[in-house]
Amino acid sequence: MNRREFIAWVGVGSLASSLPVVIAACSSQTKSQSTNTPVRADGFQVVGTVADLDKNGQLFREETAVGKVLVIKDPSNTSKIIAVNPTCTHKGCVVGWNQDQSSFVCPCHGSKYASDGKVTNGPAEKPLSTYTAKVEGNEVLVKGS
Ligand code: FES
Repeated sequence: MNRREFIAWVGVGSLASSLPVVIAACSSQTKSQSTNTPVRADGFQVVGTVADLDKNGQLFREETAVGKVLVIKDPSNTSKIIAVNPTCTHKGCVVGWNQDQSSFVCPCHGSKYASDGKVTNGPAEKPLSTYTAKVEGNEVLVKGS
């Protein structure tokens, strides 16, 4: 085997050994895309089920068409739901819904927001962004405002 043949042989070998990695990477990318529900013609996207919302008291989705979404039941009318962008407007931590305090609470510096997203306790000064949300059957849907 001369030098040229050796390099060609090593090249084929490395291509063959990296092929499964490339295929796996492409497969996982396709898989995560297929778990995302499509945005409907009316602009709404299914982000979860009512069962999950009931079970956990909140429904968090990291990747939707509008970005991060946190859905809760409206504490003043549990037949309605509220959806916000849970990115804290102070420095960007992700807030969670605290049922006992009836507030979105930021774990980083303690900002609190009312269920409509308005700041009730700093250091955050700006409200959380809100989305239009509704329930259809057992599905929770969200649409950018
Ligand atoms: S990042 Fe939320 S209070 Fe600072």
